[in-house]
Amino acid sequence: MADTNEKRHAAIKSLEYIEDDCVLGVGTGSTVNFLISELHQVRHKIKSIASSSEASTKLLSDEGFMVEDLSSTGSPDLYIDGADEITKNFHMIKGGGGALTREKIIAHASKKFICIVDNSKIVDVLGKFPLPIEVIPMAKSMVSREIAKLGGQPELRHDFQTDNGNLILDVHNLKIIDPPSLEKEINNIPGVVTNGIFALRPANEIIIGNAETTEVISNT
Ligand code: A5P
Repeated sequence: MADTNEKRHAAIKSLEYIEDDCVLGVGTGSTVNFLISELHQVRHKIKSIASSSEASTKLLSDEGFMVEDLSSTGSPDLYIDGADEITKNFHMIKGGGGALTREKIIAHASKKFICIVDNSKIVDVLGKFPLPIEVIPMAKSMVSREIAKLGGQPELRHDFQTDNGNLILDVHNLKIIDPPSLEKEINNIPGVVTNGIFALRPANEIIIGNAETTEVISNT
């Protein structure tokens, strides 16, 4: 069971990476929510903000920040987001909250990606957490069959629609030995918007929150 203190510590540590005149990308999820609630501490350093979900946009607006479209902000200097799993090779599974597509777009656009996690998210091999895939509604059965051929067991996320109006398949029992190849292979299935493997654009740093402190791992 993830410890909320660990998430909070990781989020607060990431504030140190926000420099003057920062164009900031903000992710989605319970760890990022701690970041959003503390972001006022560095308000004077933030030039503009792009958000990866309607949920984060709402929280940011409640904190008095104006969120801009990524096309207006240009490339963020820094993207801060959580993960459902991350390896010490900086590869991740994301999308537990269903925001994977916008997260991947902002991650790709950003100069630096810091992943903030509690200790429970660190794994040796990705795949215990079911892999989310965003699909165009009419393709859900076809994509499910293709995923089954890869050895996964897809399950439609019930009563859920993404911010882009699409569906999520959560894929169980995939052993993700080569994350960059599988990321590409799944993204090549027609009807897939994107999948939750983040390996082609890995994180640059991981901030792991512990009970009392934090650990930073850099991808140098
Ligand atoms: C949202 O779609 C996800 O990618 C989140 O970043 C991920 O699920 C981590 O969420 P928590 O911070 O709530 O664990």
